[in-house]
Amino acid sequence: MHEVIVVKKSKPLSGSVMLHGAKNATLVMMAALITARGVSRLHNVPNIADVHIMIRVLAALGVIAVYDAATKILTVDATTVVANMVPAILMQQMRASILVMGSLLARVGSASLGLPGGDAIGKRPIDFHLKAFRKMGATVIEQGDMVTAEVAELKPCRIALEYPSVGATENIMLAALGTRGRTTIINAAIEPEITDLVALLQSMGAQITIQVPATIHIDGGVPLHPTEYTVMPDRLEAGSLLLAAAITGGSLTLPNARPETMDLFLAKLEEMGHSVIVDGSGTGIQFFAATHPQAVSIKTAPYPGFPTDLQAPMSAVQLIAQGTSVIEETVFENRLQHISELQKMGVLATCETPSKATISGGQRVIGTDVVASDIRASLALVLAGFVAEGTTRIDGVHHWRRGYADLEVTLARLGAPISIEKQSVPLNAEQVSAVVV
Ligand code: UD1
Repeated sequence: MHEVIVVKKSKPLSGSVMLHGAKNATLVMMAALITARGVSRLHNVPNIADVHIMIRVLAALGVIAVYDAATKILTVDATTVVANMVPAILMQQMRASILVMGSLLARVGSASLGLPGGDAIGKRPIDFHLKAFRKMGATVIEQGDMVTAEVAELKPCRIALEYPSVGATENIMLAALGTRGRTTIINAAIEPEITDLVALLQSMGAQITIQVPATIHIDGGVPLHPTEYTVMPDRLEAGSLLLAAAITGGSLTLPNARPETMDLFLAKLEEMGHSVIVDGSGTGIQFFAATHPQAVSIKTAPYPGFPTDLQAPMSAVQLIAQGTSVIEETVFENRLQHISELQKMGVLATCETPSKATISGGQRVIGTDVVASDIRASLALVLAGFVAEGTTRIDGVHHWRRGYADLEVTLARLGAPISIEKQSVPLNAEQVSAVVV
């Protein structure tokens, strides 16, 4: 049976939510644990589809990962790595699977992986990753839908990234763990999930320092040991929930949110007129929506800029604001696909270019059948459904499940009329994208 998200007009959401562990930190940590012989444990691991895909990627290498949904503990036994190959069919299910390449080079000196391919939000190449591995001395061959990398001994070097790619920074760091000497990444991504990864690796014995503003030094070749580590709370889940409270005119407490990882996003909420109260201890956020929010413009950028992963839901929240909002996406080439779906809901919005849209606030929104193109677009459409007249039905539930742990259950508990329902055929079979983000 096919599933759709069904949303109706919502009353103001209200309540308190403990955030799950961050998806983007968890996935790279799972790859990182390959580098140490023995059994490690990750706490606060979200029960999302991507974690289960990564478990299968690790299994292909002979690394046994077992997830306990009740305790949210993931146990990873990397005592032996029996293979260096992950088939394309598995790799293509999730782009973060490419992060095992750095770990495999560090641990066994070779990797043969299916190419993760492009997806709905753009080409998503891995050229920065491969260029860096070549500079580190690996022979990298791309053939058909496979990429193979092999090296006798990785060599330390300075790698300047032409763009602070999150995945490339992570992959290079992981490979550098197996490199005797100092590897330096210049123009590195410094997303909070990368800082959390550094903390995990340090708990395994790795010697890594982050030099402000964006340089990472890895002194590799030191023996690594298994670890026990708690994944940071998900700032993107936090942002998603705050936007749900904002669009419904509600109030929300996030006791374990880390506001210092969300500064610009929170500043934009305040610019709209919403009230954001940060607990004196630095952990926890209390949010009260403004009665007459003002439209704001945003431009996405690498951290600490406005996160691309919150661009689509932030666009949706502009629907009920007073004024005009300009949305600029600079990180991915094709991440405004939710705008055409919002237009189907009667929204007055225009895309001047594939990466720039203008939304007029304060409009009538009408529920209809729409299709989500990625994880965050699915949330944008849910939020629009909360202020639409009638029923909104959103196809592309697989995106929602990839990134959010039972978010529909959490939203319903806060008072939202949302459910996932089964039906015999997709709303629009041609549009429902099977590709991944
Ligand atoms: C990660 C996050 C994703 C987030 C993104 C940007 C995970 C699992 N996913 O994705 O949620 O939206 O960071 O914050 O952590 N690029 C190249 N060549 C490369 C690598 C990247 O051209 O070799 C380009 C990409 O096409 C994109 C930009 O760089 O336009 C940023 O991509 P990157 O930071 O690598 O994103 P991901 O690591 O894939």
